[in-house]
Amino acid sequence: MVKRVSVVGAAGYSGAELVRILAAHPRVEVASLFGSPGSKGCAFEAVHPALGGRSGPAVVPFDEAALRASSPDAVFLATPNETSASLVPSLLEAGLLVIDVSGAFRLKDAALYQAWYGFQHPSPQLLPRAVYGLTELCGEELDRARLVANPGCYPTSILLALRPLLPILEEGMPVVAVSASGVSGAGKRADLAYSFCEVAGSYKAYGVGVHRHEPEIRQALGLPAGSPFAFVPHLLPVARGILSTIHVSFRTRVSPDEVAGRWERAYAGRPFVRVLPPGRLPELKDVVGTPRAHLGSAPLDGGRRAVLVSAIDNLLKGAASQAVQNFNRASGFAEEEGLS
Ligand SMILES: NC(=O)c1ccc[n+]([C@@H]2O[C@H](COP(=O)([O-])OP(=O)(O)OC[C@H]3O[C@@H](n4cnc5c(N)ncnc54)[C@H](OP(=O)(O)O)[C@@H]3O)[C@@H](O)[C@H]2O)c1
Repeated sequence: MVKRVSVVGAAGYSGAELVRILAAHPRVEVASLFGSPGSKGCAFEAVHPALGGRSGPAVVPFDEAALRASSPDAVFLATPNETSASLVPSLLEAGLLVIDVSGAFRLKDAALYQAWYGFQHPSPQLLPRAVYGLTELCGEELDRARLVANPGCYPTSILLALRPLLPILEEGMPVVAVSASGVSGAGKRADLAYSFCEVAGSYKAYGVGVHRHEPEIRQALGLPAGSPFAFVPHLLPVARGILSTIHVSFRTRVSPDEVAGRWERAYAGRPFVRVLPPGRLPELKDVVGTPRAHLGSAPLDGGRRAVLVSAIDNLLKGAASQAVQNFNRASGFAEEEGLS
């Protein structure tokens, strides 16, 4: 069975990666591709350099009637948060499977959108229906999903490392996640702060205590507001990739073998999370351009504490390839279809 799919935001950084993956997916036919309503659009081959030799629909200015006329079964939204928030209700009403790469449906508490995203959520009634698609840690709810909230890039890197270790963390002790992202994490925007001369040769922390991925991470860890958790994002002068170092305390002494064992059990048979052998720590160069996350750990204080290290490609496991994993699961396909 083949599914017809549309991508909105197809010429953006995450959208272009989606188009590249979907164009080669054996169970997918690309039905239509859209940019912003006022855009000029572009030819299919112009979306992504790796598309040479393939053909497909041109990227055209977004128009919901045109999207529906292309008869997709599923729609990927690689659009700004408020755009996704406004588009999702009618797409769901039309019976389409929606995979939203933005943050518009990740948080369950609608009040958090005003506080962290700066807008009143237009469809709070849909928040409980959205499945938070951290694929490897999802159960059957993902297989039945009609609206998938694809996790943020920083949260993906942090949660994959932390979630399987929650039962052995010392209660009340701070968890500190220090994450560095390549500049593509900010999207195609042309802000001065993200221009070459501003970032090349520099490195800085930003958004400490106010980054919108913080409530998402807290929600997925089950941490109430005010519990001792710090998320410290950094801007790294590379195009893509996220490396997170996460400082944790354990209830008892825990060896790197035990940490690796817990991760191995959580991700057994899951090809896109690789646990490195004890003694090895993840590096960006090994994951950039791949749909995989790499995990490793280093013990501190005789094993009472540890630094967990997690690396992903922000545009793939942090966005497009995880979105396709989620699409596969919600479509009844093998999770790795089109990604291996
Ligand atoms: N970058 C990452 O690492 C990353 C990771 C995970 C999640 N995300 C999320 O994914 C989404 C896209 O991010 P990105 O980094 O790929 O952004 P981007 O490079 O700026 O691309 C955004 C895309 O959205 C399109 N768009 C803007 N307004 C629109 C509208 N009103 N209707 C239809 N399309 C519209 C743009 O069209 P034009 O091309 O015509 O301007 C562009 O193609 C964001 O919500 C972001 O938070 C990004």
